[in-house]
Amino acid sequence: MTPRAYRPAGLKRSVAQLWTFVVASAAILAAGALVLSSLLTQSFRDQVLDDSAQEVGLFANSVLAPTLVRGNRLVVRGSDLTRLGRTIRTPEDFAGVAVWTREGSLVFSTLPGRRQLTARRDVEAVFRSGTPFAETTEVPRRDGTATSRFLSVWAPLTAASGRPVAALQVLLHPDELDASIARATRTVWIAVAVVFAVLWLFLAGLGHGAAVRLTRQNEALENRSRELLDASREVERNLLGTIETLNAAVEARDPYTAGHSLRVRSVALAVGRELGLTAPQLGSLATSALFHDVGKIGIPDSVLTKPGALEPAEAAVMREHVDRGAEIVSKVSSFEGSVSAIRHHHERWDGLGYPDGLRGDEIPLDAAIVGLADAWDAMTTHRPYARGLSLNEALLQIRGGRGNQFSPTVVDAFLEVAKRQPTAVMPPDDGSVSFAAS
Ligand SMILES: [Fe+2]
Repeated sequence: MTPRAYRPAGLKRSVAQLWTFVVASAAILAAGALVLSSLLTQSFRDQVLDDSAQEVGLFANSVLAPTLVRGNRLVVRGSDLTRLGRTIRTPEDFAGVAVWTREGSLVFSTLPGRRQLTARRDVEAVFRSGTPFAETTEVPRRDGTATSRFLSVWAPLTAASGRPVAALQVLLHPDELDASIARATRTVWIAVAVVFAVLWLFLAGLGHGAAVRLTRQNEALENRSRELLDASREVERNLLGTIETLNAAVEARDPYTAGHSLRVRSVALAVGRELGLTAPQLGSLATSALFHDVGKIGIPDSVLTKPGALEPAEAAVMREHVDRGAEIVSKVSSFEGSVSAIRHHHERWDGLGYPDGLRGDEIPLDAAIVGLADAWDAMTTHRPYARGLSLNEALLQIRGGRGNQFSPTVVDAFLEVAKRQPTAVMPPDDGSVSFAAS
């Protein structure tokens, strides 16, 4: 596989997700601040009401109970009421006091509009619970056109035995209470807003820092990747140079085959063009043809340059060159498309070739092209111990091999090239010879 530079495709997405988190955290923190402020405000309001109830309860049992409760009974005398009227002062937020019996009868009151303030349900609640409580109450005005809001605080008047004998009602103007709650609410909201804003700024700072670090690390990774890619390309260049050297060494060991690889490449390309191969396919084909016998580098001279037929053991050694050549070329990633052609360039159409005995269309097309070009050059090359075939003899042999040694398609394409462009396939020494192609 061809090495590629590292591409930071995920960086923008990661940074975007980071900022989405920061924005989302702002929304979540704002919602949290709203909820917390509401809870704190409500809690403060409940506490104020509870405090009022406790104060009234204390007032009931320290001031009123000693005057109005005798034993386990409520005893109200005129002199007591007069004394109570003097005792109970009326500060600004104090609207009035009333004392109710268990049956809901009003015993004593400094409240205006007695009938309107009768609250039997609250009286029952005081006797049932025996504890003070406070609530806001809407009281109709005397003219009946509207209502006024009061804080109504209830507390039991208890006997020495602890049993409630009467219910005390204290009405307070809520203005002071409302102002107090409003001040507390404002303070709570400001405090919560400041705390949550600081928290969000901290988060945003963390997000910004992480984004900056991520970008820097990515740049470092890109630089490192580029360096590795350059190093990888340098290794590829060195490997290519090594293979070219090995190929030259193979040809140098047999001077009579000098130029064989280049001629095979030239013939293979002419046939490949005739078959309509694409430019990338022709590039791979050229590489396959040029280095098809590079695996012969490991074959002893006694076998490689032996005149005449090889012994079976020598032939076996010779056959190893296809696997060795494929292995050598596979070291260069940009040559990966040529590996199979080099390994199979000695297969035969009839299945009698090597190394795998592939037959027919099982043989890769580029391997079949290289095989024919290789055979053609071998047939037409003169050696000191064996003169090469004449072009017409070689041509007849190619035709004869159609469908048994060679792919019919490749033979047809070769013959077409030989007929139309004989110079594309003829050996350099025979440039003046014409084919009897038909
Ligand atoms: Fe070969």
